[in-house]
Amino acid sequence: MNPEFTPDLIERLRVAQHILVLTGAGASAESGIPTFRDALTGLWERFDPTQLATSEAFEADPELVWGWYEWRRALVAGCEPNDGHRAIARMQSLAKKVTVVTQNVDDLHERAGSSGVIHVHGSINAPRCFDCDVPHEVSALAESEGRLPPPRCSECGGMVRPGVVWFGEPLPQEEWLRAESAARSCDAVVVVGTSSLVYPAADLPRLAQTAGAVVAEVNLDPDALGNAGDRYFLRGAAGEVLPALVDAVWP
Ligand code: OAD
Repeated sequence: MNPEFTPDLIERLRVAQHILVLTGAGASAESGIPTFRDALTGLWERFDPTQLATSEAFEADPELVWGWYEWRRALVAGCEPNDGHRAIARMQSLAKKVTVVTQNVDDLHERAGSSGVIHVHGSINAPRCFDCDVPHEVSALAESEGRLPPPRCSECGGMVRPGVVWFGEPLPQEEWLRAESAARSCDAVVVVGTSSLVYPAADLPRLAQTAGAVVAEVNLDPDALGNAGDRYFLRGAAGEVLPALVDAVWP
């Protein structure tokens, strides 16, 4: 068994009444979706977020921004869930209660069989009107990459925007309240593949810890480890660590 799975951690997960699983881009990395901040491969290493991930950027150059998100939507559509997503879905079927909160805008948790997934940074498959907020049906994926004019809203004629949270925007309120409430009421948190740099999502493990929960963090990078204290660091790839962890806790 992985030596980082200490008997104490295994027991605390086994007896937990409510486990919060918080995922970031690292959870989807083994599916082929690039993370944001990993050196060389991260999206924010290659693209400038101020030109792509703000409402000002969309207003300044809607075709650039819409085309980039359509490229990412096509990328997600061509990827499959990995063993980490499947282990989280299995955890949901074995533990008393598991709430999955994700910062990812893909739908790989759902496709792996997880239910009730809370998307605190929105969804790439849920475009809506930039002006009136009315949801817009997703269109067929474009054949070519590059600049693309955004569709028009059927209600007001405004431009349709991607359904993701951009820098400087608040999180969707209902999703955030549900995530925060899960953090305050859970007794264990499993954090997977996040650099914990983007707030307020990065605050959820701390909130849970303050309320008495144990935190286990799965990440390739030991520097991603949050503060010490009642935390366990499980170093490795989500697709390897999570299945082994689920097997160890619910044999
Ligand atoms: P980051 O790219 O900041 O961090 C990804 C983390 O995953 C890093 O700590 C990696 O070490 C780790 N990692 C990479 N591959 C892994 C693997 N196979 N298994 C385990 N860990 C792995 O991504 P996020 O923390 O998700 O915001 O970024 C947070 C937010 O910043 C995103 O939701 C996005 C971005 O700007 C919005 O779109 C609003």
